[in-house]
Amino acid sequence: MARFMTSMVALLLIVTVWSVYDHHDRFPAVLAQSEIKVGEKLYLENCAACHGQKGDGKGPEANRLKTKPRDFTTGNYKFRSTPSGSLPLDDDIFRSISRGVRTTSMLAQLHLSEEERWAVTRYIKTFSERFKSEKPRKPISIPAKPSFNAKLVALGKVTYEEAGCGQCHGPRGRGDGPSANELKDESGNSIIPTDLTLKPFKSGSNPQDLYRTVSTGLNGTPMPSYAEALAPGERWAVVSYLLSIATRDRPRGMMGLIEEESEGMRIDMQAAMAGMMGGRGMMGRGGGMMDRNMRDMMKDMMGR
Ligand code: HEC
Ligand code: HEC
Repeated sequence: MARFMTSMVALLLIVTVWSVYDHHDRFPAVLAQSEIKVGEKLYLENCAACHGQKGDGKGPEANRLKTKPRDFTTGNYKFRSTPSGSLPLDDDIFRSISRGVRTTSMLAQLHLSEEERWAVTRYIKTFSERFKSEKPRKPISIPAKPSFNAKLVALGKVTYEEAGCGQCHGPRGRGDGPSANELKDESGNSIIPTDLTLKPFKSGSNPQDLYRTVSTGLNGTPMPSYAEALAPGERWAVVSYLLSIATRDRPRGMMGLIEEESEGMRIDMQAAMAGMMGGRGMMGRGGGMMDRNMRDMMKDMMGR
């Protein structure tokens, strides 16, 4: 009977904790602090190997990677819907975590639940003081996509030439423009202008993704924003031109992985193994605090 009562109490606890967790928007003050803790734990288990314990991009794996992990302390994010120089929206960070950054070791972190991806989104913002004093600017608007046709592509080609894209990306978009070999990112690492004839692109290859990239530029890199220099119609024309030349697929290796994605897979697997060794079982990594608490309570109920 005592065992039964314990079980009932445990069950009640689970249901209560679960419902608070599930509707945490209604209890922001109570859970804000614990969410940071959840975010921190997820970050250390899933991200720190590359992005570093302090979020400075200097994780133990960073040296071996060609494309370096983001340094979160500067608040400079490449992939945003906000204007050049602005902080990103939470949605932008969440999107990068959920989709990954194609061709790099940054894989889609889909072993984390949506809730966990939001927790880690909010957590990585704590690495930069800028999020405390500054607000992200209004995202750029993406007008309805015109229908792409030969005339628009031709206009896009002219716009590409006149806007000087070729200076970096090359006259035919092969990533071999006159400046291609002298470009550096904000950390002083050399950075190669993308070969625009190859798919997929880092932050997504649909027309809206490309329109966003051309409009906002990529903070911390030489890729400028064209929100001022090109009218929305011209930006759409350039996008139609880009899609007309991006006809080849990047070579895929094992499991269909491209370039440094396989490095990401290796590092993620290693982290998962470490999680299992930690005695948290198969669901150890990314299982989330909630799952682990649930498992502990279940064990209690079953008398261990
Ligand atoms: C295997 C290494 C690796 C792991 C693990 C990893 N990342 Fe990354 N991440 C990278 C690299 C490399 C980039 C930079 C890609 C680029 O600049 O093109 C990146 C980029 C990002 C970006 C985009 C930043 C921007 O400039 O817009 C975000 C956000 C991010 N990572 C968050 C995370 C989070 C959160 C985790 C853990 C849940 C994580 N990453 C795990 C390597 C990693
Ligand atoms: C001063 C050099 C420079 C100029 C000029 C420039 N870019 Fe870029 N662009 C870059 C670099 C460098 C990258 C690679 C960033 C990275 O890999 O993180 C890039 C990346 C891109 C990407 C790929 C984004 C992705 O998600 O993978 C697109 C698309 C792009 N540029 C389009 C353009 C267009 C269109 C123009 C002209 C309107 C242009 N660029 C002008 C340097 C430049």
